[in-house]
Amino acid sequence: MFQLTRSVTWQALDRLRDKTTNDRIRDYFTHDPQRFEKMSLRVGGLFLDYSKNHVSDEVLAKLIELADHSALVQRRAQMFSGDIINVTENRPVLHTALRNLSDDPVYVDGEDVMPEITRTREQIKQFSETVRSGEWKGYSGKPIKDVVNIGIGGSDLGPNMAVRALLKYRHPEMHFHFVSNVDGTHIQKVLSRLDPATTLFIVSTKTFSTQETLLNAKTARRWFLENAGDDADIGAHFVAASTNRKAAMEFGIREENVFEFWAWVGGRYSMWSSIGLPIALSIGFEGFIELLEGAHEMDNHFIHAPLSENMPVLMALIGIWYINFIGAETQAIVPYDQALNQLPSFLQQLDMESNGKSVDIFGHPVNYKTGPIVWGQTGSNGQHAFFQLLHQGTRYVPIDFIASLKPEPGMEDHHFALLTNMLAQANAFMEGSQGGSQQDPFSCPGNRPSSTLLLDELTPRNLGALIALYEHKVFVQGVIWNINSFDQWGVQLGKRIAGEISERIDTNAADFDASTQGLLELVRAHF
Ligand code: F6P
Repeated sequence: MFQLTRSVTWQALDRLRDKTTNDRIRDYFTHDPQRFEKMSLRVGGLFLDYSKNHVSDEVLAKLIELADHSALVQRRAQMFSGDIINVTENRPVLHTALRNLSDDPVYVDGEDVMPEITRTREQIKQFSETVRSGEWKGYSGKPIKDVVNIGIGGSDLGPNMAVRALLKYRHPEMHFHFVSNVDGTHIQKVLSRLDPATTLFIVSTKTFSTQETLLNAKTARRWFLENAGDDADIGAHFVAASTNRKAAMEFGIREENVFEFWAWVGGRYSMWSSIGLPIALSIGFEGFIELLEGAHEMDNHFIHAPLSENMPVLMALIGIWYINFIGAETQAIVPYDQALNQLPSFLQQLDMESNGKSVDIFGHPVNYKTGPIVWGQTGSNGQHAFFQLLHQGTRYVPIDFIASLKPEPGMEDHHFALLTNMLAQANAFMEGSQGGSQQDPFSCPGNRPSSTLLLDELTPRNLGALIALYEHKVFVQGVIWNINSFDQWGVQLGKRIAGEISERIDTNAADFDASTQGLLELVRAHF
């Protein structure tokens, strides 16, 4: 059996870690004036500078060899061509087909799935245009002003993040709300501000069986019936994005308003599907297509660029270096852009649900670290919250800085301050405060790594490329670790036990552990 940590390349990287531990990143620049040019690259409207990483030329070459000797090229081809790479769920992984804007067919079980993707895209087009133009009327004849997406996890985070990121492209008279938490205060707060006559609910759920989403959808329906129309009016105010057409129709949604997608679209990879309906409603169908185009462009880059010039591959390899060789436990994501404030949460699910695995694709336990703890928040806020620990604490935390270059008209001074703050931080993390000794409480040791991703502008296209970039980075890491990045059995376990506990609230659940039973007793007293 192949063992990753016994491979010649892995062992060479282990030795290189020892050899380069005491290197200073800034010395790499002194020794190589071309380092920035060599360690930066552009794909469309995205520019990546990875030169401020604790990675020597020799390390980088070995990391690329690691990718080269892995199953990456083969697995990448399998993913794009619809082979079953989600082995535990026996499914292909085809979010890339959703943004396939070429004429190339994509086959699942011998059948080209592109015609149904195109059909659903057309349905999204018709629907979004009808709603945005005001042609779609609520039960009392008024156009839609508020859209509420009800969904959780992948059925919330992607559209939520993208709608907020692209708020400046939003329909000027429409407002978007996202309800995810089963905590009733979430939906209560949203509903309290809305007029049912002008509100549209999108029930976004791949399975149409997620407890949180179904409960929130029922509460929304009850609110609608209590405050406005009757059962016959549900169809004008509720639509669904789901693979489970039957359950959506049983809920009262008209067949033509169920926006389908397919089992081969993973929840956290689904914003390109009907789950992206709020995005199309917010920025318009053309904008939604631009988002897909950006992702498609990144897909093409990922497929065709050599590994040594491949943006997702490079980001993945640098991450592997920190996780497996330097011992970093976490990866910070710090967008210097308020519009990207949901990006860290989105990437948290993308990465942690995908690569939070400890057995390989054959079910054998792995003897190396896999996915990092992903966290973060926007700069400059983070500077005044957690950056102190990053500068002087005992943890080693690689950082991804993300920003868009183009200022908002009239906000040039703010944008300049924002970007210079980001550059100052990345510089300070690398340089530290020169001159001070390690023991000096004023001294910042520096030598802390970061990458910087610049978007020419935060457009739908560039956002699409950015998200696809991270999707592929996660994929590459999963391939090298030889894990299945596309299942989530841990989450399923939690879902199942939540169901069992609620079913047994009235009975003596003696087969739960004593702690759960004791706590359940306390809960029971309130219901
Ligand atoms: O978080 C786990 C998960 O299964 C995700 O993969 C999915 O996006 C989410 O739950 C919601 O599931 P559904 O879309 O079926 O309601």
